[in-house]
Amino acid sequence: MELVDIFPAFGLRIDCGPVTLRAMRESDVPRVCELVAEGIHEEGAQPFLVPWNVSKTQPVESLQFYYRTWATFSSEAWTLLMAVERDGVMVGAQDVKTEKFGIVRHGETGSWLGLRHQGRGTGTLMRQAMLTFAFDHLGAVEMRSAAWADNPSSHRVSEKCGYVANGYQLLDRQGRRARQDDFVATPETFVRPPYEVAVTGADAFRRAIGLDGER
Ligand SMILES: CC(C)(COP(=O)(O)OP(=O)(O)OC[C@H]1O[C@@H](n2cnc3c(N)ncnc32)[C@H](O)[C@@H]1OP(=O)(O)O)[C@@H](O)C(=O)NCCC(=O)NCCS
Repeated sequence: MELVDIFPAFGLRIDCGPVTLRAMRESDVPRVCELVAEGIHEEGAQPFLVPWNVSKTQPVESLQFYYRTWATFSSEAWTLLMAVERDGVMVGAQDVKTEKFGIVRHGETGSWLGLRHQGRGTGTLMRQAMLTFAFDHLGAVEMRSAAWADNPSSHRVSEKCGYVANGYQLLDRQGRRARQDDFVATPETFVRPPYEVAVTGADAFRRAIGLDGER
């Protein structure tokens, strides 16, 4: 037996032109830490709800986050963690978080790239690849994304992928009030990538999240 027979999420792979999303594995965590150490945003920017990447103990906290996410994966509440490769080099991560997906059929994406890998269309392609998988292979009816009002690149990626505004929230961002904009994409609004999307491991993943063979 292989590990993917026990945990089918480890067998997922989504290819979209120069970008590949493949399941994050324990052995990728050192590369995550390298990318974080090189920087994933300009000094002083605050793209995340929790500033996990600037913690002094980020490497072990990231490892623990990945273990915790794999350990609590269930059909009731699953988070899919994908490593992002551009031309075969790991450059970031693309996640989807869900709760009761089998009933509500929506999830929220989250993503980041190493700073020096940004601004060449990768962020858009990786989101489009994930949305293609969610809509075409998992039967999602909508997918959501949220970004602080002062995160123009995330807003622009959402716009390029066909999301529409879905309200906002005023939240505590590290001790200060900040506006988080919410966006939603449906199969109707979704702007598909200019490449064919090839998915490996979808059937086993669907079974793992309780969708059996259905789409
Ligand atoms: C958000 C992120 C994943 C996008 O990745 P990316 O590879 O840079 O995205 P793309 O190159 O596909 O698109 C970025 C778009 O934002 C635009 N953009 C970037 N900075 C901008 C700014 N200051 N003002 C306006 N537009 C801006 C780019 O011009 C581009 O749009 P275009 O194609 O129309 O020119 C990446 O910037 C990142 O990891 N940021 C840090 C973490 C983060 O913010 N994660 C999301 C949390 S909600």
